[in-house]
Amino acid sequence: MRPFNLIAACSENRVIGRDGRLPWRIAEDRDFFMQKTAGQVVVMGRICYEAWSSAGEDGRRPVVVTSHAFPPPIRVAGSLTAALELAAGLPGEIFICGGQRIFEEAIAMPGAARLYLTVVHAVVSGDRTFPEWTDIFTREVARRESSGDGARYTFLTLER
Ligand SMILES: NC(=O)c1ccc[n+]([C@@H]2O[C@H](COP(=O)([O-])OP(=O)(O)OC[C@H]3O[C@@H](n4cnc5c(N)ncnc54)[C@H](OP(=O)(O)O)[C@@H]3O)[C@@H](O)[C@H]2O)c1
Repeated sequence: MRPFNLIAACSENRVIGRDGRLPWRIAEDRDFFMQKTAGQVVVMGRICYEAWSSAGEDGRRPVVVTSHAFPPPIRVAGSLTAALELAAGLPGEIFICGGQRIFEEAIAMPGAARLYLTVVHAVVSGDRTFPEWTDIFTREVARRESSGDGARYTFLTLER
């Protein structure tokens, strides 16, 4: 299996989503996500894909994990393992973009090499969470503090 990245933003209490959306609007984090994933393979669950209709723009190659069918050029896979096998044959780095179950499965795989995590310094309510990562991604390779849109947040780059 080719090594892959996870990319996510979570609150201090590891919330990533609420009612099918992000619990915040942070332009700098959105820009970071868009810039990191441009030109790359983005693997995500069906709900994420349906909320991000422009996933295939800027040279991204989306792979959607779903039991549903989607018209080409969207690539679909019935499991995360199948999605990663498909992704391995495509050019570009592989980014796992969520949601919850996809992150939970991906983080436990040995191919999960790097985590780009934006920690939003707030405790927020939500219905989707990011898995506990500190025992898995133990090496911090970059950290940048920032703020905007009424929030303080830290961009972390972590490796196994
Ligand atoms: N903050 C962040 O970084 C971040 C990132 C991503 C998402 N989010 C938030 O998370 C929420 C969306 O994520 P979600 O967890 O609800 O849904 P999701 O993972 O995007 O989509 C769930 C669907 O994907 C398919 N699926 C997911 N995992 C699968 C697996 N292991 N095997 C087979 N199929 C699988 C199933 O599709 P079918 O029903 O079609 O079979 C499932 O119903 C939103 O609130 C979004 O804003 C936040």
